[in-house]
Amino acid sequence: MILGIESSCDETAAAVVTPGGDVLSSIIASQADIHSRYGGVVPEVASRRHLEQISPVIREALFTAGIDLGGVTRIGVTRGPGLIGALLVGLSTAKAMAWACGLPLVPVSHLQGHVASLFLGDEPLEPPFVCLLATGGHTQVLAVRDHCSFERLGTTLDDAAGEAFDKGARLLGLPYPGGAEIDRLAQEGDPSAFSFPVASVPGFDFSFSGLKTSLLYTVRDLGEAATAERRADLAASYQRAIVIALTRRLHQVAKAEGLTRLAVVGGVAANSELRAALPDAAVAPLAYCTDNAAMIASAARYAEPLSPAEALVVDAYASAR
Ligand code: KG4
Ligand code: ZN
Repeated sequence: MILGIESSCDETAAAVVTPGGDVLSSIIASQADIHSRYGGVVPEVASRRHLEQISPVIREALFTAGIDLGGVTRIGVTRGPGLIGALLVGLSTAKAMAWACGLPLVPVSHLQGHVASLFLGDEPLEPPFVCLLATGGHTQVLAVRDHCSFERLGTTLDDAAGEAFDKGARLLGLPYPGGAEIDRLAQEGDPSAFSFPVASVPGFDFSFSGLKTSLLYTVRDLGEAATAERRADLAASYQRAIVIALTRRLHQVAKAEGLTRLAVVGGVAANSELRAALPDAAVAPLAYCTDNAAMIASAARYAEPLSPAEALVVDAYASAR
């Protein structure tokens, strides 16, 4: 039984996953309500909340899975990228547990974790495939040729797609995190009402800052009353531009790499228009798109674990390597 622990941003999460990839429990304590009043995640507040939540969340994950610590055979924990203070809470907890219980530990990249969300359940996706990873912090296209690594072929030059959703939502006066809010509002709007730019940068990279600026100017020109009145159209048009940018790149990379299987992971994979635009792509179940610990436990299945003594010297890292 693999115990997964995730604390890279504003979700404190623990999960128990079998070696075969069945999720026995996946507990997520979200801090979104705490951070929403600030319009984004406040790192120090996140660290403190993780500290309060981590033990009860792990206890609940074990309880729901019907096991105790004695039933755990391996611990997988997010090592980075993410908020350093937040990461350290999960990592220190995992190291302490590994040391105290004599358990092997696998430090997991949060990005590899998102990819490994596709390896859970009854019908896991088998590599090779091209994967779009779109979260609040990253937007990348990956060639995934095995279960434990990937080749990054493209990345964002500025904002991540999730960040573009969140910043756009803020401009439209919607609460944080804004992705799901725009998604919901867009369903009532006309996606062709406004024409927002889809950046074409060289290679397989992305850029979303021009789009965000374009929304800013549009909202400014419209003024408060007209913006409020046309919010659904603005949300739908803005979302359409993001979805086009993402799907276009994914198809380009798939063609260039000669890979026919497509997949989408990360919080933005929860977007209903993106899912509809990629009917043939594998998408993780909604519960495993946004941050969770089942995906971390899943990734930990494929890596060589460290002994408790080796695990003690593992450090967290903030930015993607
Ligand atoms: O993967 P994730 O939970 O955390 C990170 O690793 O960043 O992704 C969070 C991001 C946020 O930017 C959020 O607005 C976005 O995923 N998101 C969505 C939707 N649900 C979450 N974006 C668009 N449509 C959604 N339905
Ligand atoms: Zn994430």
